[in-house]
Amino acid sequence: MPSGKKQPKNPLQSPQNEVITEFTSSLPFDRELYFWDIVGSLAHVDALAEAGIVTQKEQKSLKSGLKSVLKSIQEGEAELLLELEDIHMNVESLLSEEIGALAGKLHTGRSRNDQGALDLRLYVRERVLETLEELMEFQKVLIRIAKKNLGTIMPGMTHLQPAQPVSLAHHLMAYWFKMKRDFDRLVGCYERLNFCPLGSGALSGSSYGIDRFELAKSLNFRGPTDNSMDSVSDRDFAVESVFCLSLIMEHLSSLAEEIILWNSPQFGFIHLSPDFTTGSSMMPQKRNPDIAELTRGKVGRVAGDLVSLLTVFKGLPLTYNRDLQEDKEPVFDAFDTAVDSLWAMRNLLSTAKFDSIRMEEACKSSNLHATDLADYLVGMGMPFREAYSLVKKMIEDSSGSGSSIDEWTIKDFQKYSTLFKDDVKGYLELKNVMNRREVYGGTSEKSVGESISLVDALAKEESSVIRKIRDDVEKPVLQLLR
Ligand code: ARG
Repeated sequence: MPSGKKQPKNPLQSPQNEVITEFTSSLPFDRELYFWDIVGSLAHVDALAEAGIVTQKEQKSLKSGLKSVLKSIQEGEAELLLELEDIHMNVESLLSEEIGALAGKLHTGRSRNDQGALDLRLYVRERVLETLEELMEFQKVLIRIAKKNLGTIMPGMTHLQPAQPVSLAHHLMAYWFKMKRDFDRLVGCYERLNFCPLGSGALSGSSYGIDRFELAKSLNFRGPTDNSMDSVSDRDFAVESVFCLSLIMEHLSSLAEEIILWNSPQFGFIHLSPDFTTGSSMMPQKRNPDIAELTRGKVGRVAGDLVSLLTVFKGLPLTYNRDLQEDKEPVFDAFDTAVDSLWAMRNLLSTAKFDSIRMEEACKSSNLHATDLADYLVGMGMPFREAYSLVKKMIEDSSGSGSSIDEWTIKDFQKYSTLFKDDVKGYLELKNVMNRREVYGGTSEKSVGESISLVDALAKEESSVIRKIRDDVEKPVLQLLR
């Protein structure tokens, strides 16, 4: 044996040096899958027993051995070996320490190719559930704040320039609807991934008469996957889930960006709880919105995870290729990041205080009623383009003379047009400007109030979807680990 080389414990490997062992092993990251690997194996043992490949007695020993292995990994007692390449080989090896030669029957009719595909699907299923729960909790916070702020006026922006007054409720509910689509998108992803690849074998299907429908049912999948070659070659479900997470992060980053701005002294719209800001090491007066900034920054990670996956899977010939081992880390990282970001931003928002006076002040200094001033003239019969030019002139004159239009008397208005009547001042009050947007989906208190009642019903639908997915994820575990 040349120095640096040693006989491997893994029967699949030829002798190799440590660098190559490290290079090829997925154990440092796929150990995260141990729980689902064992749950999948328990289901597989039942399928083997059902097909008469193992006896009832063997089934019992295999299952109790697997449960002991699970316990020893959970309790940190099991020693997992890098040179066994991955979590699958490690579990099998621990099982043989537990029950001896019978462990050799576990892998009958199965390949690590369908096993690995199964493990990742089980993992993604669980984490989709966790993400949906986080999204729903976030939406609850948005609704709670919105309900209290139907009449809280703030400047709505385009190009980050003050444009028209909107309510804080309307602004926050915009995020509710973004998150609703995020929720639905993930549920769609879940529905496409909720099929069981086990029984596909290495690529062409198992020859042991395993009932794939029963097997799928025992893990609460909707059914078996339809083509063995597709099953072991594709991770599109993982890509899709990370795409969904990327969009969640994009949405969160917009909210984070707004919170960072609102929290700056120049805006002063929001005060963050000290638990969700950090101090400066040099400037004692500062509290920085780091949680929001990190959320904004972490979009880069998740979008990067998505690009990693797309690049790893590009151009792979059917079926399994070792490249697929690179599927796991980006998926784990994307879920960890998105779930943590949702949690942090939700708590940041729910403990923040909004400054309604500052928000309304900001509306007053910015002529947010200019469109309505033109609309007023339109209502009196003036063509919109003419009204637009006249109002533009009025605003220029007002800022030139330093007198806000809000302070003008009716006589000042009438210098520009005799169409202005006494009611124009009331017409321009911010609350009236806002509340004229009574269209479906508009910012009036009435429209937003109705919108919130509508989403209360949608929120109930979300919890029932979550309940069903929780059953899929949890019931097989209870059943198989009994
Ligand atoms: N460690 C491998 C992975 O995670 C397991 C599958 C190996 N399959 C194979 N045919 N070599 O992808």
